[in-house]
Amino acid sequence: MPDASTASGLDVKEILDLDRAHVWHPYGPMPGRQDPLVVESAHGVRLRVAGVGELVDGMSSWWSAIHGYNHPVLNDAVREQLDSMSHVMFGGLTHEPAVRLAKRLVDLTPDGLEHVFLSDSGSVSVEVAVKMCLQHWRSLGRPEKRRMLTWRGGYHGDTWQPMAVCDPDGGMHSLWQGVLPQQVFADQPPAGFDAYDEAYARHLHDVIGQHAHELAGVIVEPVVQGAGGMRFHSPRYLRALREACDAHDVLLVFDEIATGFGRTGALFAADHAGVTPDVMCLGKSLTGGYLTMAATLCTERVAAGIARGEVPVLAHGPTFMGNPLAAAVANASIDLLVGQDWQTDVKRVETGLRAALAPATELPFVRDVRVLGALGVVQLDHQVDMEAATSAAVREGVWVRPFRDLIYTMPPFVTSDADVARIGRAVCAAAQASGEVSA
Ligand SMILES: Cc1ncc(COP(=O)(O)O)c(C=O)c1O
Repeated sequence: MPDASTASGLDVKEILDLDRAHVWHPYGPMPGRQDPLVVESAHGVRLRVAGVGELVDGMSSWWSAIHGYNHPVLNDAVREQLDSMSHVMFGGLTHEPAVRLAKRLVDLTPDGLEHVFLSDSGSVSVEVAVKMCLQHWRSLGRPEKRRMLTWRGGYHGDTWQPMAVCDPDGGMHSLWQGVLPQQVFADQPPAGFDAYDEAYARHLHDVIGQHAHELAGVIVEPVVQGAGGMRFHSPRYLRALREACDAHDVLLVFDEIATGFGRTGALFAADHAGVTPDVMCLGKSLTGGYLTMAATLCTERVAAGIARGEVPVLAHGPTFMGNPLAAAVANASIDLLVGQDWQTDVKRVETGLRAALAPATELPFVRDVRVLGALGVVQLDHQVDMEAATSAAVREGVWVRPFRDLIYTMPPFVTSDADVARIGRAVCAAAQASGEVSA
């Protein structure tokens, strides 16, 4: 790695030495075994990486930077907010950025979601969603309804309740089997946005019916199962879930932390099905990827249930709840998104990805290539060789971060056609390189 100095004064070697010695990375060992790239700045859809140069970002920093980096409108929103207040506690106090954001979310999300709990991260918003469900039934005198049901293959975050509803076997948290709360698992939905299997819908009805007496809620990622495997399924299963939950008095939670704000081609994945869940989680691109903030929305019914309890409040209140900086940039990001023809942009990226990833279908060790909205996935027949795959992508001038058997990309919506094509070439090169190493 070249030893170019960075703006901070530490040279690249110093940064990497300190990083390896002291800093955990997501799902990383301590000390670190593989040097990460050192990012010096990010602008538009490009990351400037020490010793490498500019890389087109194929990841939107894990679904979040939908408008790209260093966006003048989002920068101004943060700066303007900074001049009035960066943070105040939310207990006993309120402020315009948070109130505006809550109203905006109520207006944009499916009809019936009326109340908004702002928290710090996606995982925490799932914790809050599960707590809402359990507390709703507890408050109505049915404390035995305290399990959650989900389908296999899901991912909902890394804190405790979310881990318990991640895939119990193939998922990242199988280590904790027997320690986590025991939840109920339905089969994984059949693959394919356009594929629908009536028998699977009946399975959902049956398993929800069997466990209804002990179920507080059903939680799923609608339409796209993300970090559990990047699989797509038919929106019609969301309607089946809605019907089964209504029939059996169980709450329905959609985790739209990854899918929210246009990624799948609808503003929210729930919109593909025309379904309103009882509870919805949002995060990631909520702030355009600028600051960490998430939201849990619920219906009047859920809130009213909680209010009838012995403890008639939602007992949750993070220190940075409603953070004004994050709320201000979230408002600006939403204005930016809905103020432009985002559908056309997502469609354009989708069309570009379909064309650019098509050559991967010809590679011998590629099992599947799939695209939905601004999300493209190449699934290999082996565990991706990370070193070979990411190096090949970097040689093509692109940043991607594969996992398991998946090389995938979810570029910012503003990515140009030429850059989408480049990302496609890089993903194909990464698949080729990984296949050669594993052959
Ligand atoms: C569907 C889904 N839910 C929850 C989370 C957790 O969000 P966070 O990483 O912000 O805690 C993620 C993150 O990847 C996610 O994709």
